[in-house]
Order: sequence, then structure tokens, then C-alpha cells
Amino acid sequence: MFKKLAISAVAALTLTSGAAMAAGGAGHVHDVDFSYEGPFGTFDQNQLQRGLKVYTEVCAACHGLQYVPLRTLADEGGPHFSEAEVRQYAADNFEVFDAELDDFRAAKPADFFPGSNLENAPDLSLMAKARAGFHGPYGSGINQFFKGMGGGEYIYSILDGYTGKEKTQAGTTFYENTAFPGGWIAMAPPLEDGLVDFDDGHDNSLHHMAEDVSAFLMWTAEPKMMARKEAGFIGVFILAILSVLLYLTNKKIWAPHKGKKTSA
Ligand code: HEC
Repeated sequence: MFKKLAISAVAALTLTSGAAMAAGGAGHVHDVDFSYEGPFGTFDQNQLQRGLKVYTEVCAACHGLQYVPLRTLADEGGPHFSEAEVRQYAADNFEVFDAELDDFRAAKPADFFPGSNLENAPDLSLMAKARAGFHGPYGSGINQFFKGMGGGEYIYSILDGYTGKEKTQAGTTFYENTAFPGGWIAMAPPLEDGLVDFDDGHDNSLHHMAEDVSAFLMWTAEPKMMARKEAGFIGVFILAILSVLLYLTNKKIWAPHKGKKTSA
């Protein structure tokens, strides 16, 4: 029985991986050690602030973040800007259409980021979660489990995965990319070394900017990750105490009946 089960499980795995390969194959995703990984990981506030800058100056030309309220940029555990900085950022960078004014006005912290400017560029609000995927051999999720590889790594690998080759098909240019499933993406390489200058003089090589913007997009997709981890710890802690109490209670209840077999 067990043998049969094992054989069909192996067969199922080979079949699904075969199908994935026939569909063009999953791209290659690199592991990155993000600060938010692991049970004690937290977002790096400075990294999120740099990532926002990369997003604003580069990605926002095409992509949107329409599910992210601008005011959350002040959240603790996130980029944690001051209220005044968020107000300034919103007003400086975005305009929204106000139905009451029947006109465009500068964005305020109460508004959301605008949606995508380019029709075929997907909204990035939840991209890091949507593409978390199952990384590891044959999509088994092993790398996700042990190395914490997820959507952040995927986005990083896309930005860093261009080979320089391109081709045009039916009027659209595609760029070869080692991370994109199928190998050809319709997004021109958005980053190059030194493209964005950081106020703190932080390294602005392609590789670092890609990491920063990927961490930022992980935050937009899961802004409450820190709170979730904290709640998890409290839960585990309470369960541990409860287990000890149950063990002691159980001992106490049965104590009078134990060790009396011979006397009965
Ligand atoms: C010139 C416009 C343009 C810019 C600038 C741009 N993108 Fe894109 N992006 C696109 C288009 C178009 C697609 C859809 C590509 C496709 O489906 O083949 C895309 C797709 C993506 C995807 C989705 C890949 C997937 O799995 O579907 C991610 C992630 C992404 N972009 C991230 C970024 C980031 C991060 C930046 C900024 C560093 C950025 N893009 C800048 C046009 C752009």
C-alpha cells in the first residue's frame, strides 16, 4: 500500500514539473538575505525609504500602487516618515482627480498612490505576495521554507535578470530575463547603476537599488508583517504556558489513583 502511494506521489511530482517545463519553465530566482526574513526579522526603515525613492523616480513612470494609502508611509514598522514628510511627498509627487473640484489637485496623505500609467504594466501593490510562488526544486517550496525565499527575491531577480538580448514580436519588444517565467518580458530593463541618488549617499549600484525597491514592495504587499509575527509569538507563548498548566493539572488529578494497583 505504502509503496503504491509513494510511486504515485513520485509520478505526480514528475508530471507536474514536466508540465511546468513544457510551459516555458519557471525562471531562476536568487536568494537575497532581506532584513524582514525569519521569525525575528523586521523591515529596515532606511531601506524602505530608499526603495520608495527608487519606486517614485523609476517604477512609478509605468506602474501604480493603487491599494496603498499614502498615509501608511508614516507607519511604524514601515518607512516611518514623519507626518510632515508624507504630506510633502504626496504633494510633490502625485496629482489625483478630485470629483468635488472636478479637477486635479495635489495628493494628500489621505489619498492612495495612483494606479498604473501604462496599460500593460501591472499594479505593484500586492505583486510581492502574488508572485511569492513556491521556490525550490520542482516548486516544492523547500527554499521558501528554509531560506525565506519569496516575492522579494522574485522581484529582485527580475530586475537583476536581464541578459541584454531583445526581440520584437508583433510590434512588441521583449527582453530576455532569466527570472521571468518563459524567459522574455515586455518590460525594458528599468534600472542601471547609479540611476537614483540617495540622500545618505548609500550605494546605488543596480544590485542595491533592486534590493531596496524589492524590500519596499514586500512592505506594500504585507505592511502588517511585523504585527503578524508579534501576534504569532504571543500565541505560541500563551500555548506554552497552557501546556504546562494542563500537564500539572493532569498529574494532580491522577495522583491519588497512581501506584495503588497492588493495594486494591
Ligand atoms: C517603461 C515602463 C516600466 C517601468 C519604468 C517599469 N516597469 Fe515593470 N513592467 C512593465 C511592463 C510593461 C510589465 C509587464 C511585462 C510582461 O508581462 O511581460 C512590467 C512588469 C513588472 C513586474 C511583473 C513581472 C510578473 O511576474 O508579471 C514587476 C515585478 C515589475 N514590472 C517591477 C518593476 C519595478 C520594481 C520597476 C522599477 C524599478 C519597474 N517595474 C519599472 C513596465 C515598466
